[in-house]
Amino acid sequence: MSEDRAARLAAIAEQVKHCKLCRLHEKALNGVPGSGNVQAEILFIGEAPGEQEDKQGLPFVGRSGQYLDYLLNLIQIKRDQVFIANVAKHRPPENRDPLPDEIAACKPYLDQQIEIIDPLMIVTLGRFSMARYFPTGKITALHGKPRYDDRRAYYPLFHPAAALRTPALRIDMEADIKRIPEILEEVKKLRQARSTPPTLPPAQNDNDGTPPQQPKLF
Ligand code: URA
Repeated sequence: MSEDRAARLAAIAEQVKHCKLCRLHEKALNGVPGSGNVQAEILFIGEAPGEQEDKQGLPFVGRSGQYLDYLLNLIQIKRDQVFIANVAKHRPPENRDPLPDEIAACKPYLDQQIEIIDPLMIVTLGRFSMARYFPTGKITALHGKPRYDDRRAYYPLFHPAAALRTPALRIDMEADIKRIPEILEEVKKLRQARSTPPTLPPAQNDNDGTPPQQPKLF
């Protein structure tokens, strides 16, 4: 099962490496498909690779990544327990925002990664990944508020780079991160409740041989 997931994710990574579906591959050094635990309960989705990620072909390995590690450490979660991906899988020139058609070109890769990993929780980092699940609304209003569907929780957070740029955001960022374990527990309960058949009241042995009687109404 996990080998099957690993093989399918590796096949996507290979496609990303050679992807020419949008212009971003022209200036990028490496595709950054995403990496982590193929059985992760939590999938983090960021924006797009930066300089370090482009050099190494790995997500969140620069300053934002160091801050993400610090945040994960606050809830005793290690990188190798989670999966991390981005909405755009090649670095935009000069770290500009990814354009809608570039995000759209990458969407099938990310959709498949989500389908394969089937995480309990998708944590979006920044407004571009938030827009996948919360197409309207501002991150300043929506961050830290989970939404649940029948499979998982979607949890929008600020982007770590935004919190590095604006120290005031770190208070919210850290408070939001600390709610992840509680939200994860909630999803586990919801999935458990859905997979457990409703319990019937205990059968009553009232078959004493007499024919059933119509209950008296008056
Ligand atoms: N910022 C992102 O959104 N993704 C990365 O992988 C690195 C920095």
